[in-house]
Amino acid sequence: MEDYMDNSELIRSALLSRENAYCPYSGYAVGAALLCADGTVYGGCNIENAAFTPGNCAERTAIFRAVSDGNRSFLRIAIVGGKKGQKPDSYAFPCGVCRQVMAEFVNPKTFKIIVATSPEDYKEYTLGELLPESFGPENLE
Ligand code: THU
Repeated sequence: MEDYMDNSELIRSALLSRENAYCPYSGYAVGAALLCADGTVYGGCNIENAAFTPGNCAERTAIFRAVSDGNRSFLRIAIVGGKKGQKPDSYAFPCGVCRQVMAEFVNPKTFKIIVATSPEDYKEYTLGELLPESFGPENLE
């Protein structure tokens, strides 16, 4: 199942989505690529707004695209970020809100978060490593 796409390929997809980032206020462009269990990849970019708070992160753009498409079974997400117009030079970790949104849909022990600067340079974590002791749907059962 997990072999649809290797990490480097998923990162390349995130880099492509990053080109669509709309970030005139921060100048920080982020791209994400979410691999689903059926092999579908949903890309996302950050989308900012003149009123600031309506802006959305790349990760949530990708996740919301998938969920609105009826796809809620996720394997991995690759994330790339850096100054607009430049190649990423450090890892862009998902913000707390995006980690919480991931926790709604995935098993924290198996879902992988890949932060990358290029297809060759990346680190991989589970959601559980980045969001330990989380509050999730099971708390409301
Ligand atoms: N951003 C993301 O897209 N993902 C993250 O995980 C961190 C931050 C975006 C939000 C905003 O458009 C810009 O990066 C600067 O914070």
